[in-house]
Amino acid sequence: MMVVGCSVSLVVWSFLWTLSPAEGHAEVSCVFMESCILPCSFQSSTDVVIFWIHVTAGDTLVHSYYHNQDQLGRQDQRFRGRTSLFKDQISGGNASLQLTGVQVQDQGRYKCYTSTIAANKESFINLQVDAPVHKVDMEQEENRITCSSEGIYPEPELTWSTSPPSNVAFKNTTSRVQQTEQLLYNINSSLILSDRVTDLVYSCTVSTRSNRRRATLRELTSLDGSSSDTTIPCSASNTSLLNFSLVWRFNHSRIILNRTRTSVPYTVSEEWRQQVKGVSESGSLTLQDLSLKQEGIYTCELSDDEETNITNTLLRIEEGSQTGVTRVIVGLVVGAIFVVVLAGLGVRYYKRKSHSKECETRDKVWKQTFDSAMNP
Ligand SMILES: *[C@@H]1O[C@H](CO)[C@@H](O)[C@H](O)[C@H]1NC(C)=O
Ligand SMILES: *[C@@H]1O[C@H](CO)[C@@H](O)[C@H](O)[C@H]1NC(C)=O
Ligand SMILES: *[C@@H]1O[C@H](CO)[C@@H](O)[C@H](O)[C@H]1NC(C)=O
Ligand SMILES: *[C@@H]1O[C@H](CO)[C@@H](O)[C@H](O)[C@H]1NC(C)=O
Ligand SMILES: *[C@@H]1O[C@H](CO)[C@@H](O)[C@H](O)[C@H]1NC(C)=O
Ligand SMILES: *[C@@H]1O[C@H](CO)[C@@H](O)[C@H](O)[C@H]1NC(C)=O
Repeated sequence: MMVVGCSVSLVVWSFLWTLSPAEGHAEVSCVFMESCILPCSFQSSTDVVIFWIHVTAGDTLVHSYYHNQDQLGRQDQRFRGRTSLFKDQISGGNASLQLTGVQVQDQGRYKCYTSTIAANKESFINLQVDAPVHKVDMEQEENRITCSSEGIYPEPELTWSTSPPSNVAFKNTTSRVQQTEQLLYNINSSLILSDRVTDLVYSCTVSTRSNRRRATLRELTSLDGSSSDTTIPCSASNTSLLNFSLVWRFNHSRIILNRTRTSVPYTVSEEWRQQVKGVSESGSLTLQDLSLKQEGIYTCELSDDEETNITNTLLRIEEGSQTGVTRVIVGLVVGAIFVVVLAGLGVRYYKRKSHSKECETRDKVWKQTFDSAMNP
């Protein structure tokens, strides 16, 4: 009686396992290029057979296991070296699959088929892949602002806004989306700045299923610097910098310095060691020993989890102390020439006058005056 009761419950159990609807529709989200676990379990018993099959991709074989070991001879090329089971837990009924280096192509429906002496079971898992928005770039070139972001899945959306709000700015925006070989999306959009509205802060938001990021850009301003200390402001707001990572760039590419969110000391690139004097609480950059070589666009980027604030400043270097010295020298030379010419004129005038007897007396007086002026 005991024995019969046991085997009945076993049959009921395996029946339940086989048809368990909750198991059939598991959803798993995986991040592009990261690793991910596709869960699957079965009633533990002996002679375990496990097959993982990618149903969406025409029933391709992802992983198989029997005779107490992996059997990868017929594994699809696409999954080579990327799959593993938790060997030490198979005996406990764990058939979960670990997939590494997740690709967009890995998306879709998977079947986990298990078989033991006691029962066979099929369960299905739906895998979705997300490549979140990592970074949104904004750049101003003359009167055009471009916003772009790369490597996103699924297809992102891009929206513009301004602060304070303005409709004029958006009369002419065009968004372009491109898909890479890895099936990721690159998006970009530009807008033409209107002459009628100035002093706006432009924001661009790129969003996808898993997240969104925003970038803001202030219209390019210019600043006259000198060869002595020059401070370039970073951001109009004075939020606590500790929550942001900071990067200063020159002419859109070369990094002057950067600082991550957690490490308070900043790293100055080798070629800027001489010029960087310091960075303020608000991220403003103080430079020294500037020459015309440092004229150009300075970009400050403050980023946190949600947004990047970009401030571009065109720095013009005024004639510094060096050129000031030149100016003094030129002034002295011009002055000297002027004196010599004047003296020459005076001598000629004196010579002409000395021939006239009528004016001899006046001449003498003049000569005396001139002589005393020339040789005091
Ligand atoms: C199987 O084992 C792995 C590794 O310990 C664990 O992460 C996973 O949750 C287990 N799956 C099941 C269905 O028990
Ligand atoms: C939008 O900008 C393009 C150039 O980027 C220009 O050719 C086109 O005429 C503009 N359209 C409007 C309505 O201003
Ligand atoms: C914007 O996208 C187009 C087409 O996808 C591409 O040709 C262009 O180079 C992109 N521009 C920028 C600034 O990324
Ligand atoms: C910025 O600083 C000024 C004074 O320095 C202060 O009045 C203002 O409230 C601050 N703004 C923010 C957003 O912290
Ligand atoms: C900032 O500097 C560190 C090294 O100090 C570097 O590893 C990192 O890539 C830099 N970040 C950026 C955005 O360039
Ligand atoms: C930086 O850019 C400015 C103008 O955008 C240019 O005049 C200057 O030559 C550039 N400087 C360097 C060192 O590339």
